[in-house]
Amino acid sequence: MQDALRTELLNVARAAHAVAYAPYSNYRVGAALLAEDGRIFGGCNVENAAYPQGNCAESGAISAMVLAGQRRATAVLVYGAGLHPITPCGGCRQRLREFCDPKTFRVLAVNEGGLQQEWTLEQLLPHSFGPDHLFP
Ligand code: THU
Repeated sequence: MQDALRTELLNVARAAHAVAYAPYSNYRVGAALLAEDGRIFGGCNVENAAYPQGNCAESGAISAMVLAGQRRATAVLVYGAGLHPITPCGGCRQRLREFCDPKTFRVLAVNEGGLQQEWTLEQLLPHSFGPDHLFP
């Protein structure tokens, strides 16, 4: 991925992180999802007093992409605090799986200190179950 695109994703994820609603965990997360047509969709985590009803940042970005009429994504950048760059939780790996090719989809993780890590979705979710199983 080119540096300019990476910077654009980082800016969207950081802006989403800044407005995240996480009063319970105090752990704000921002995500930037790159759709196949080049558009970038942001999402932030939105928590709830009834704890299990909270949503992850990646979920919000996926919803924004689908609402905009896109159903394929090629990369996501997830931004959060902490020593270790944040990787999508198990549920979000599966949510992302629905809208991508896991072999080529890039997952970029960046923490506030600028530490970066990168994987394919297949590396994070090997032997995954997806739409192909239901519609071969
Ligand atoms: N969170 C995300 O938004 N994305 C992830 O991939 C991991 C966790 C959020 C959920 C919750 O609001 C907070 O981080 C702490 O778990």
